[in-house]
Amino acid sequence: MITILLCVLLSTPSVTSRSLGIPTTSFSPSHGHLSLSNIKSIIVDDQYAQAVDESGQTLIPPTLQDFAKTFAGDLKSLHVNATVAVGKQPSSGSVFLTLGDSSQYRDAAGRPSSEGYSLTVSSSGINITGASPLGAWWGTRTVLQQAVLTDGAIPYGSGSDTPGWATRGMMLDAGRHYYPPEFLVEMCAYMSYFKQNTLHLHLSDNLYNNVGIYTRERSLELYARFRLWSESPDVSGLNKYQNESYTREQFDYIQNSCVARGVTILPEIEAPGHALVFVQWKPQLGLSSDLSLLNISNPETIPTMKSVWSTFLPFFHTKTVHIGADEYTAEVNDYNSFVNAMANHIRTVSNKSTRIWGTFPPKDAYNNIHKNISMQHWEFFEDNPLYDYIRNNYSVLNSDDTYYVVNKWSGSYPQVVPISRTFNSNPANNGMWYPYIFDTRNETNNPPSDEPLVLGAVAPLWNDYGANASVYSEAYYAWKDGIPALADKQWGGSLTSSEFDQVFEKLHPYIPGQNLDRNVSSKTSTLLDYSFDNSSVSYAVNSDQVPDRSMNGYVGTTNCTITSNGSLAMEPNCFLASPLSSKGRNYTLTLTLLIDEMEDRTATKLITGSDSILMLTPNITLFASGEYFRLTSTIPLKQKVDLSIIGRGTQTFAKINKGKEEEFVTKMGINGEGFELAPIAIEAPVEMVGGPGSGWSGRLWGLKLTNVA
Ligand SMILES: *[C@@H]1O[C@H](CO)[C@@H](O)[C@H](O)[C@H]1NC(C)=O
Ligand SMILES: *[C@@H]1O[C@H](CO)[C@@H](O)[C@H](O)[C@H]1NC(C)=O
Ligand SMILES: *[C@@H]1O[C@H](CO)[C@@H](O)[C@H](O)[C@H]1NC(C)=O
Ligand SMILES: *[C@@H]1O[C@H](CO)[C@@H](O)[C@H](O)[C@H]1NC(C)=O
Ligand SMILES: *[C@@H]1O[C@H](CO)[C@@H](O)[C@H](O)[C@H]1NC(C)=O
Ligand SMILES: *[C@@H]1O[C@H](CO)[C@@H](O)[C@H](O)[C@H]1NC(C)=O
Ligand SMILES: *[C@@H]1O[C@H](CO)[C@@H](O)[C@H](O)[C@H]1NC(C)=O
Ligand SMILES: *[C@@H]1O[C@H](CO)[C@@H](O)[C@H](O)[C@H]1NC(C)=O
Ligand SMILES: *[C@@H]1O[C@H](CO)[C@@H](O)[C@H](O)[C@H]1NC(C)=O
Ligand SMILES: *[C@@H]1O[C@H](CO)[C@@H](O)[C@H](O)[C@H]1NC(C)=O
Ligand SMILES: *[C@@H]1O[C@H](CO)[C@@H](O)[C@H](O)[C@H]1NC(C)=O
Ligand SMILES: *[C@@H]1O[C@H](CO)[C@@H](O)[C@H](O)[C@H]1NC(C)=O
Repeated sequence: MITILLCVLLSTPSVTSRSLGIPTTSFSPSHGHLSLSNIKSIIVDDQYAQAVDESGQTLIPPTLQDFAKTFAGDLKSLHVNATVAVGKQPSSGSVFLTLGDSSQYRDAAGRPSSEGYSLTVSSSGINITGASPLGAWWGTRTVLQQAVLTDGAIPYGSGSDTPGWATRGMMLDAGRHYYPPEFLVEMCAYMSYFKQNTLHLHLSDNLYNNVGIYTRERSLELYARFRLWSESPDVSGLNKYQNESYTREQFDYIQNSCVARGVTILPEIEAPGHALVFVQWKPQLGLSSDLSLLNISNPETIPTMKSVWSTFLPFFHTKTVHIGADEYTAEVNDYNSFVNAMANHIRTVSNKSTRIWGTFPPKDAYNNIHKNISMQHWEFFEDNPLYDYIRNNYSVLNSDDTYYVVNKWSGSYPQVVPISRTFNSNPANNGMWYPYIFDTRNETNNPPSDEPLVLGAVAPLWNDYGANASVYSEAYYAWKDGIPALADKQWGGSLTSSEFDQVFEKLHPYIPGQNLDRNVSSKTSTLLDYSFDNSSVSYAVNSDQVPDRSMNGYVGTTNCTITSNGSLAMEPNCFLASPLSSKGRNYTLTLTLLIDEMEDRTATKLITGSDSILMLTPNITLFASGEYFRLTSTIPLKQKVDLSIIGRGTQTFAKINKGKEEEFVTKMGINGEGFELAPIAIEAPVEMVGGPGSGWSGRLWGLKLTNVA
């Protein structure tokens, strides 16, 4: 049963009902429940079926009917078949989606919000009234969550709910680490379930240019990336890594898929600091003292950056874009003119607004930054968001480093979101943090909770130590608890720490549109079990089907020859495929095999999956996220061995026969000053043994995957 608590809500003087959920929601339950299995249809009010929310940041807002279709897919994942129809009124067992008076839904500053909604549930069905289609979408998230928390039923009752802040989300450093489009789309689905609406993508950056150590040549070779791909001659040579970039088509796919769940992609191209990628392209644009900074007084610099923006602005479907402008350490006036020139250019070319990281606060002595450029505050040593910005009429997004995460290792920041701070970092509001709290230690630095210039909050994940520090999914694990904990407070919810643990654990298995944990459904702890021992399984002559001896029926296919001695004869031109692709922590994957020959000792692929490949190089190697993680051991040739890969929590191991486990680790470079070793958590590859390009011959006796490590 869902726990219903009464409590005083943030900035609401009256006593209101509150239901658990992430975020918490104001909903007054009455007696009784509507079982999810009674839901037969989603009816979209015909007056509003094609309506869209034009007041949010996205320029490609879905219609109410589009959201209804996505919702129907989500219900299906809970085994509820609901048809989607357009109609004038609800019918028995329907979820009726309509729009209402948007002025009823007010944000923390008391302004109308398009993201509010009302929800009523009775024995006849569910009505969701949105301030806009996006508001109705958030209402559908409440329905899904309440159904999970009440074991497949939704309490009768009613409530209405509005987010306090319009910008709620996360920032991912996709500059110093690539992330594939599908990963980003799954992250959006995860965020959306908790009503976050913004994924800020940092699309260009470089490793720290350690001028104390690096020669000019080394700086010009340092890892620096620009993640968008265009064939335009204006940017020819800027991006040399097409396989780790987003084409316009891919970027559209990401933006369309995310916004289908209410999440807007906010793109950032960073300059004039963190700008080494532009200097590697045109070395004359760099400051001789630090090549990662643009020399703004070079007459080519501003035109070059304008041309980059002109090329890529058509990719972006949002009203605001981010030009970075973080950590520039040269001339302030140059910097300010650069920012204003870029903002004017972006407005002229695309009618978009500009955002920057707070860096040089306004001073009488400077040609200051235009007040219609929004500020993303991150550190008090850079700026004071209240005194420098809000008091001067700048709007501010709260990205204070209270919630900074640096993937895998850092001298100063944590590796997962420090969620206890969301429950416990503020003397007011029972200790709870909210987006208007920039300073958790000194209340004098915070505006009142209804300050209209506070846009909301976005929590970043940085990849300071580059591409080989982590695999894609480790960004998800760094955020797994952080997204829901932050989402509650970014909306204005009031979940306590113990409520969070209780609710999150129940909701987590049912988040639609993603399988970031790479779960495989299974009846027992053995997920997959192929073996070719014909004493216990008889194979049909000429059949290419390989039975699964687990209880799951994951039947495989092969075009290798099954030999009479109970093994599969592996040749470089044949394969064994399973219907699975990847398995996340925890797992043990065991191959019982013998290698006769390798075509190339440094590039043999034993088994391939969607997140990784197990290789011999000749060292036992996992290739994942574009990087090779190697052990010092290899496997003996012409001997039958059990080779196991074990994923246990944040670590990954390999073991030969009953030998000692050896751990895969990442060896990160720390700013040219040294190395750090850290665990790496790589998913098991479970899609195909052998296959074209695998490059080995030998025998395979069995393949077994369990969820025990
Ligand atoms: C839902 O529909 C599918 C076919 O579209 C059917 O196989 C399934 O049994 C239905 N489920 C329920 C719970 O009605
Ligand atoms: C939904 O709204 C209709 C009017 O459009 C009303 O007749 C019905 O009672 C409402 N249902 C619920 C569950 O509130
Ligand atoms: C910046 O560019 C200007 C104009 O090209 C040049 O005179 C100056 O030396 C450059 N400064 C540095 C520090 O590179
Ligand atoms: C430009 O953007 C502003 C603010 O987002 C909007 O009010 C205006 O209608 C837009 N103008 C055009 C021509 O699209
Ligand atoms: C932003 O502010 C600057 C400086 O005041 C002004 O020139 C520009 O027109 C403004 N842009 C918009 C879209 O209002
Ligand atoms: C901020 O804007 C308000 C309202 O437009 C105006 O009254 C006030 O003078 C402005 N303050 C500053 C410091 O610009
Ligand atoms: C708190 O912030 C105010 C305003 O910035 C400042 O004047 C004061 O010194 C700060 N107090 C402490 C203890 O740091
Ligand atoms: C097995 O199938 C693969 C992919 O379709 C093909 O390239 C290969 O030639 C086939 N091998 C055999 C032995 O049939
Ligand atoms: C992209 O290509 C480079 C060069 O071939 C390769 O090293 C890297 O692993 C590839 N990246 C991915 C994600 O596969
Ligand atoms: C591969 O294994 C050899 C032999 O154990 C070892 O010397 C070498 O360092 C290993 N390579 C890597 C990249 O770990
Ligand atoms: C994986 O194993 C580790 C270590 O035994 C354990 O702490 C963790 O909870 C397990 N994770 C899962 C998802 O089972
Ligand atoms: C990982 O990348 C860093 C650069 O960030 C490099 O110094 C280091 O050698 C790489 N590690 C391995 C094992 O190649």
